[in-house]
Amino acid sequence: MSKVISGFSKLSKQEKVDWLTDNFTEVGIKAKEVLQQYWNEDRILQSLHDDFVENTVSNFYLPYAVAPNFVINGRDYTIPMAVEESSVVAAASMVAKFWSSRGGIKTTILSTRKSGQIHLMYAGDAGGLQFYFDKMKAQLLRVTEPITENMRLRGGGIVDIELRNKTAELPHYYQIHVTFQTKDSMGANFINTCLEAIADAFKRPDIEIVMSILSNYVPECVVRAEVSCKVKDLYESDAKLYAEKFVQAVKIAEIEPFRAVTHNKGIMNGVDAVVIATGNDFRAVEAGVHAYASRNGKYASLSHAEITNGIFRFWLDLPLSLGTVGGLTKLHPLAKLSLEILQNPNAEELMQIVAAAGLAQNFAALRALTTTGIQKGHMKLHLTNIIKLLDATKKEKDFLIQYFENKTVSHKAVVDKYHEMRRENEH
Ligand code: MEV
Repeated sequence: MSKVISGFSKLSKQEKVDWLTDNFTEVGIKAKEVLQQYWNEDRILQSLHDDFVENTVSNFYLPYAVAPNFVINGRDYTIPMAVEESSVVAAASMVAKFWSSRGGIKTTILSTRKSGQIHLMYAGDAGGLQFYFDKMKAQLLRVTEPITENMRLRGGGIVDIELRNKTAELPHYYQIHVTFQTKDSMGANFINTCLEAIADAFKRPDIEIVMSILSNYVPECVVRAEVSCKVKDLYESDAKLYAEKFVQAVKIAEIEPFRAVTHNKGIMNGVDAVVIATGNDFRAVEAGVHAYASRNGKYASLSHAEITNGIFRFWLDLPLSLGTVGGLTKLHPLAKLSLEILQNPNAEELMQIVAAAGLAQNFAALRALTTTGIQKGHMKLHLTNIIKLLDATKKEKDFLIQYFENKTVSHKAVVDKYHEMRRENEH
């Protein structure tokens, strides 16, 4: 029997849960329990979450952690991170502390422009369309004035508007490319509203407006984060050798896409965790960052490293479209708290904090990969997670941690050793 349903969104939450568990889970009662386990007892808070999206049946938690000891441009930060991957927060804190005694992380805003396009089709003569655009330009800006008024008071608004001829790539295709400054808001609604108003004013029977939408590609909204120190201050022993190996690892990611994707994924471990914790749109950030990583026609590392005259320098350029007002930033109590913990940054400051978290994560991964290997740290956490599932006493836990110090950790090996230990203790 078909399980297609009409009017699902009109059902009450309990009815939705019943329908879902009756139709799509094996043991309805158990599934209901799991869903309800995550409901918040505070009804007002739960109803806030229910209303973020349609058809909410439960909440999906991520650990919310903090990474202390970040010094960014001389200012101390503790960075909130929402992430499920073990070792991400520990690595961020460890690297933050490491650089705190080596001048901290320096960040610079390189640019803050965003854009949106009105995509249109026009079969006539290109010169004619350009003439019409030039004639209409002032009017196109005028129709957005009521929309941009507040933004202009805050120093933002429309920066530029131009017609682009794309017919060489797609017959009849043109776009009106609009550049914006959106100050402390991510600006999606603002940009889209402006674009739709412009499209409306540009309409003519021989012009087909296909769509009007912001771009999540923000190569002109970029922040740089960097660290540097003397090579000899980088490692306890063999500093020159390891620093050179570190730089080699970055150079590999600069030319080899297979490595670059994983390298950048490590950066995004830090970036996404802060983007999510502050209620920002991580899908937009992800899409924009990876497009930027391919801007020269080949997917490449977002970070770079060099050694010059005995000084190690490591830096990262990231396109980031973030907001500290609007969206979830003030609506979600934890996102609001994250911004408070970060000392209520404006959007540019938040870009810098996020980039610092990304750089820290990348540094931690490369340092581990080029020295001990990544599995040592990972396996330690893996071991702790396996032990947590066992009914082990503190003494037994300590024994297992010590026993596996120099051995390969696998679920089976740990469980076997645990049972062996128990059997021995019984005799
Ligand atoms: C794992 O989440 C991230 C790393 O793979 C990043 C890297 O390889 O650089 C460790």
